[in-house]
Amino acid sequence: MLTEVTAFAPATVANVAIGFDILGHTVEAIGDRVRLRRIADPVVRIASIGGIAGALPVEPERNTAGRAVQALIEDLNLGHGFEMEIDKGVPLASGLGGSAASAVAAVVAANALLAEPLPPLRLLRYAMQGEIVASGSAHLDNIAPSLFGGLVLTVGIDHPRIKRIPVPASLRCVLVHPHMHLGTREARAILKTDISRSDFVWQTANLAGFISGCYSDDLEMIRDSFNDVIIEPQRASLIPGFADVKRGAMAAGALGCSISGAGPTVFAWAEVQYAEAVRGAMVAAFTTHGLASDQWISAIENYGARVVKA
Ligand code: HSE
Repeated sequence: MLTEVTAFAPATVANVAIGFDILGHTVEAIGDRVRLRRIADPVVRIASIGGIAGALPVEPERNTAGRAVQALIEDLNLGHGFEMEIDKGVPLASGLGGSAASAVAAVVAANALLAEPLPPLRLLRYAMQGEIVASGSAHLDNIAPSLFGGLVLTVGIDHPRIKRIPVPASLRCVLVHPHMHLGTREARAILKTDISRSDFVWQTANLAGFISGCYSDDLEMIRDSFNDVIIEPQRASLIPGFADVKRGAMAAGALGCSISGAGPTVFAWAEVQYAEAVRGAMVAAFTTHGLASDQWISAIENYGARVVKA
């Protein structure tokens, strides 16, 4: 039986404009790695946090990966524990689901070291405990795609249903991460708790249109419904230059452009032949607002978290 294993979990774009807290998709290539080693005591020890980590807590109960594995140990009443090394590949407070990626990689690694591995839906529950540490609330729109891969809809929290939604193969996701920090808690705290009936109708129509467009390869339907009328207008002012970045992306041929998760990363969906131009326009707009950025063009592949090294 294995005693040591490394798992990788990809970064994610949560909300995907119109699915606040329920829709998210994976990003190729960027992600976190967690190495776990079985130890005799039924506890979690964080031995190191490396990569582009910044200052992350090493107390397991305050760390997303640590808390997720603690939840697994407690729930299964395991007679042993794990020592953990975290290698961060997702920038902190970027809106790319870094806290979820660490939590998911950690539970996938722990699962590989169990005598009887659990089904992914059980792992989702433990990873969610880690997400709560980071954002103060339970939502699965980063965790579910990071675990299952692709564009993922979650319905429910306590007993969630997970649905992977097909994405037209010609589409790419352009991501531009301006060099600034925006905390998820802060970006959630500003949100109103009530919405108008008209906004509710628009958002519902847009979510339904977007998902039906994905299933039917209807790019015009995706374009016309790629419009968050509730959350984006409230958060836009947290990201300097957001309106210009979005305008630039749309003028360069994007199907839609919005805030990735709680921001500050801005993402756009575009057909592959427009992706470079969209990226250029978004980067240029941030530059005029004094913000340097990192950028990626990613396919939306159906690859979720996985063990990468025994
Ligand atoms: N759906 C969440 C939000 C994602 O937008 O606040 C961030 O964790």
